[in-house]
This record gives sequence, C-alpha cells and structure tokens, in this order.
Amino acid sequence: MIELLRRFGGKFRRYMVIGPACKLIEVIFDLLTPLVIAQMIDKGIGAHDVSAVVHYGILLAAMAVIGISFTLVCQKMAALTSQGMGTDIRGALYEHINKLSYAELDRFGTPSLITRITNDVNQVQLAVALGVRMLIRWPFLAVGSMIAALAIDLKLGMIFLICTPAIGLVFWFVMARCIPYYKQLQAKLDRIALICREGLSGARVVRAFVREGHERERFAQAADDQARVAIAVGKLSSILNPVTFLVMNLGVCAILWVGGIQVNVGELTQGQVMAFVNYMTQTLTSIVYVANLVVVFTKASASASRINEVLNCVPSITDEGNQPVALLEPSAMGNAVPVPALSLSHASFSFGAGAANAVNDVTLELPLGKTLGIIGGTGSGKSTLVSLIPRLYDAGVGSVSVMGSDVRAWPLDQLRHVVATVPQRASLVSGTIRSNLTWRDESATDEELWAALDIAQASEFVHNKPQGLDAPVEAGGKNFSGGQRQRLTI
Ligand SMILES: Nc1ncnc2c1ncn2[C@@H]1O[C@H](COP(=O)(O)OP(=O)(O)OP(=O)(O)O)[C@@H](O)[C@H]1O
Ligand SMILES: [Mg+2]
Repeated sequence: MIELLRRFGGKFRRYMVIGPACKLIEVIFDLLTPLVIAQMIDKGIGAHDVSAVVHYGILLAAMAVIGISFTLVCQKMAALTSQGMGTDIRGALYEHINKLSYAELDRFGTPSLITRITNDVNQVQLAVALGVRMLIRWPFLAVGSMIAALAIDLKLGMIFLICTPAIGLVFWFVMARCIPYYKQLQAKLDRIALICREGLSGARVVRAFVREGHERERFAQAADDQARVAIAVGKLSSILNPVTFLVMNLGVCAILWVGGIQVNVGELTQGQVMAFVNYMTQTLTSIVYVANLVVVFTKASASASRINEVLNCVPSITDEGNQPVALLEPSAMGNAVPVPALSLSHASFSFGAGAANAVNDVTLELPLGKTLGIIGGTGSGKSTLVSLIPRLYDAGVGSVSVMGSDVRAWPLDQLRHVVATVPQRASLVSGTIRSNLTWRDESATDEELWAALDIAQASEFVHNKPQGLDAPVEAGGKNFSGGQRQRLTI
C-alpha cells in the first residue's frame, strides 16, 4: 500500500492534506457538540429558559452546517484522490502488462491479470477514499471524546476505562482471526475469474458437448469455495456489533446510575451526565469504525501486493539502448558478401526450468529471397521456433540473427516490423476489417489492403460485404468463419 502511495500518490498530495484537514475541523465540531448540548440542558431546559434553548439550538445548527461544509470538501478530495489514483494504477498496470514478454504473461495467467486490474485496484481505491475521509476522523474522535469525558468527571471515567479495553479486546480477538482469510479470498476470486473466462469463451464447445451441467458444477464449486471463506469471515465479524453495543449500553446504564447519584448529591449537572454519555458512545462507535478501517486496509494491502507484484515484474525481453539496425536494399549491397536474412546458431529454448527443450540446438541459415518450410509432428516445436525470430521468446542457448544482427541487438519495434508474423491461432479484434488490416501499417492505402486481401485469398468474401473494408468485426472476429478469420489474420 505504502509503495503504491509513493508511486502514484505524489500527484494527489495536496488533496491528501486538504481532505483530512477538513475532516479534522469536522471532528472538532463533533467534539464540541456534546458540550453545547450540556449547556442547553443545564442553562436552557433545566432553568426553563426558552431563549437559552433557542440560542444553543441555533448554535448547534450553525455548527452542523459548518461541519457538513467541511465534510463535503473532504468528500470531494477523497473522491478526486481515490478515483485519480485508481485510474493511474489501472493505466500503469495495463501499460506494464503490455511490456511484459510471453514468459511473464504465461506465469501470471490472463484471468489473474484481469482480477488484478479490476478487483484489486478497486480495493486499493476504496482504501484510499476511506483513508482520506476516515483515517483522521475515527482515531481523533475516539481519543478526543475520551479526553473530554475524563475531563468532565474522573469517577465516571472509570466506567469508560473499563468499557474501552473490553471492546478493544473483542476486536483484537476477532480481527486476528479474520485477517488471514482476506488474503485467501483474493486467490479464490482469481479461480472464479479463470473458470468464468474458460467457460464463457468456450461457450460454443460447452454447448456442443452438452457440458453445461459440468461447467455449472465447476463454477458452483469455485463460488462455494469462495463463499465458504467469506461466510467464515462474516460469522466471525458478525459478533463484533452485538458485543460492542452490549458493552456500550451496559456502560451507558452504569453511567446513568452512578451519574444520577452524583447529580442528586450535586457533584454533577444533568447536562454533564448527558455529555458524558455522548462522549462514551462516540468513542465506542469510533472504535467500531477504526476496526472497519483495519479490515479495508488489510484487504487493500493484500491487493496492493498483488498489484506491485505485476508492476515490479521486470520484462525479460527488453531493447534498452539498442540502436536501429541499418538495412540496405539488396540493390545497394553491391559486391559485399550478402548476409543471411535469418540465421540460427545452436538455438535452444525451453518453457521452464526442468522442462524439456521445445527447440533443441537448431542451426540454420536462410539467404535473402529464399523460402524455408519447416515440417514436423505436432508439438515438435515449429511455432516455438518461429516465435524466437521476432523475440516473442528469447532463445536460452545459442543465438538468432535477422539480417546479420542478433535479435537481441534490434530495437523491438523495428524487429517486429521487419519480421511479419502470422500466428497459428487466428486473432482479430473488434473494429472493422480495415482497422484490423492496418495493425502493421496504419498508412496503408486501400489498393495495398486489397492487394494483401488478394494474396490471402480473402478479397472475395470482403467484396461480398456491403460495407467492404469497413465491415464490422466483432470481438475475437466471431462474426467470421474460422477460415475467413485465418485469411484476414494472414
Ligand atoms: N506457453 C507454453 N507453455 C509451456 N509449454 C508450451 C507452451 N507452448 C508450447 N509448449 C510446448 O512446447 C512444445 C512445442 O510446441 P509448439 O507450439 O512449438 O509445437 P508445434 O510444432 O507448433 O505444434 P503444432 O504443429 O501442433 O502447431 C509442445 O510440447 C508444447 O507442449
Ligand atoms: Mg504450431
């Protein structure tokens, strides 16, 4: 949490000072209110003085209006800070995830990345908003009320001093047992996201194989699993409120009793006893809210560490400091010894420590203008070999060179522009045919696009669409057939 605040909070520092400062002013008014009420009771109601009642009534109303005005300012500051930070964190996460290489994406898994960007950022956002609004309020109100109450009467204060630690103890008992559960809850949400993603994106297959029941069962299991933990936490924390209010009301009874006797002997006024009761309820409810803050911050800190894990993940494939590679047109090469367009030297790659090599000691050279087809059984490493060329993965051993330069020496943008890749799995994004085709070259003209469609043998079905190049493509290209999708991908 601290790390996120340090990284993203700077911009909002001003709001984070103004907000709590306004809250502090509101707390001061809250602390003064019971004293004004005491005056109203003693000087107004007790003395049957209507004008004093009206006078203090107006004072109370004015204090409430000023208090609310400061609260509104604080509320606005909290909203600006939390929404702003949330947006910045989400943006930074998305940007960073786009920098990660395949290896890191494989490690986190897409569903977990999605929950981190959505749910985890929401938790942090909530904590920031509450922090700006409440972090100052409740502790100050608790301590301030306690001091004010003790200042009224020390003997009554004894009752207070017994009730407060009693409630504190109950909280400590419950929270210590709840906190470990919050971390588990996040991991269980990841699992639900994974099942949702698999089940929903594979909806057609699920229907075709009549696996709806099985999918429902799988989802229900994950949801039950999450609910079980959530209910366990809920049960534990549900004893908090009744116990607090029980202790609080017993305390109020005791104060009224002891305070009543003191009023009778003239040691205290009725107003002072009422103020005391008000201070006590204020302190004890503040403790309840402080405990809620602890819950929100615990959840947020679990989320923050999941966010930081992604933000601190260093992409294994970077091109820092790489200078653009000078490419000569073949005609300009003259008599120089031509460099091979592609060469691999004892290149090996494995998907993880201990896993067998997917590409094992490959050496090959491909001159400019030549074509090479690679044939092999399924799972023999063809796709993996190809993904070493635009550096989607880095060869662990050996080297891969394009146009005579090691791929590790190329700026990634330039390398991936020079190496055109058609993925094995067709992939289109929502937009239009044109927006999909111009991914590699945004300035491509219509003639170029049609020429490309001709080569990919896709021009016929695009011609048949009334909107042609501007025909809409739905998410994942699902309004096209498998073959059409593949051709458009090419
Ligand atoms: N992301 C991944 N994580 C772990 N292992 C992987 C991953 N992708 C592929 N593999 C493994 O690497 C090996 C090579 O896979 P690859 O996709 O290169 O095969 P292929 O020759 O292209 O097969 P096909 O002809 O079926 O497309 C396979 O045994 C596969 O299990
Ligand atoms: Mg393949």
